[in-house]
Amino acid sequence: MTINPVFTDAAPVEPVPPAQQFLLDVVEGLSARQKYLSAKYFYDAAGSDLFEAITRQPEYYPTRTELGILDDNGPSIAAALPRRADLVEFGSGSTVKVRRLLKHLPDLSAYVPVDVSESFLRSEADALAMDFPHIAIAPVAADFTRPFTLPDDLNGEAVAGFFPGSTIGNFEPPQAARLLAHFGRVLGRGATLIVGVDLVKDSGVLNAAYDDAAGVTAAFNLNLLTRINRELAGDFAPTAFAHRAFFNSRASRIEMHLVSLADQTVAVGNHTFHFVEGESIHTENSYKYTVAGFRTLATEAGWEPVSVWTDGAGLFSVHALRRG
Ligand code: AVJ
Repeated sequence: MTINPVFTDAAPVEPVPPAQQFLLDVVEGLSARQKYLSAKYFYDAAGSDLFEAITRQPEYYPTRTELGILDDNGPSIAAALPRRADLVEFGSGSTVKVRRLLKHLPDLSAYVPVDVSESFLRSEADALAMDFPHIAIAPVAADFTRPFTLPDDLNGEAVAGFFPGSTIGNFEPPQAARLLAHFGRVLGRGATLIVGVDLVKDSGVLNAAYDDAAGVTAAFNLNLLTRINRELAGDFAPTAFAHRAFFNSRASRIEMHLVSLADQTVAVGNHTFHFVEGESIHTENSYKYTVAGFRTLATEAGWEPVSVWTDGAGLFSVHALRRG
């Protein structure tokens, strides 16, 4: 059963039209001393497909490791959640991961996927409703980083949140703490939050995961330039840039960059940007935590660490947090 989808117009989701915001962000980022672009712009249709392909690369351990943790600990993770809960997934995208949880939650009241893509939400919600007919599916089209309200016809006995994939790692730690606090406000008092967090490990393993031998991550990174060319009338020559990814151990993050292979000037619409040879655009941070480090961050954001599950090799972690 799909109950009334809430396509919020209550809070202004995007004050500026998305295409215009993209141009503003690109111009701001390419005008900075260290040029940068936001990792959120990776995910156009081609970028989403390339990310799916990354998750199948042998070097990219996070997705399969997290799925393994969810599979191996289903009953125990389910036990950390209230029985008749409403489960809110932040940035749901595909429902592959939540399905692993739903299997173990026969008494769940509702599943509330929150995602910016309305069409994607509708098709995923419909597919899920077929497979889990006892759960009310109440999609919300919203940017999960901004204030939004939950559907008012939820009738579970408690609220829980799900934020898998180590998406939290894309945020600088202070922003990550703010995001966790924001989830706390959305979910309310007494809520439980299940979060997937990638762990600090040997830098060789990390570097390989973000620079796979087949070049899929390189293609994913370079696709950002192709997207700018198409959507913002850019004239980037993607072959004039190289993918670079490395673990910055001081900051505890993987950094991805696009490095200019020559002195060159690039146009985006009416704007031009100069690159010297070797200059980079910083395109992504992917922070890695220790279990203790993430628990400290969560505590600062008003959450109490309850349980944590990891794989045998200690590559990835899934945390249960509670809000007092
Ligand atoms: C989707 C943000 C979790 O940081 O591992 C994968 C994105 N970038 N390879 C990550 C990504 C390059 C991914 N997250």
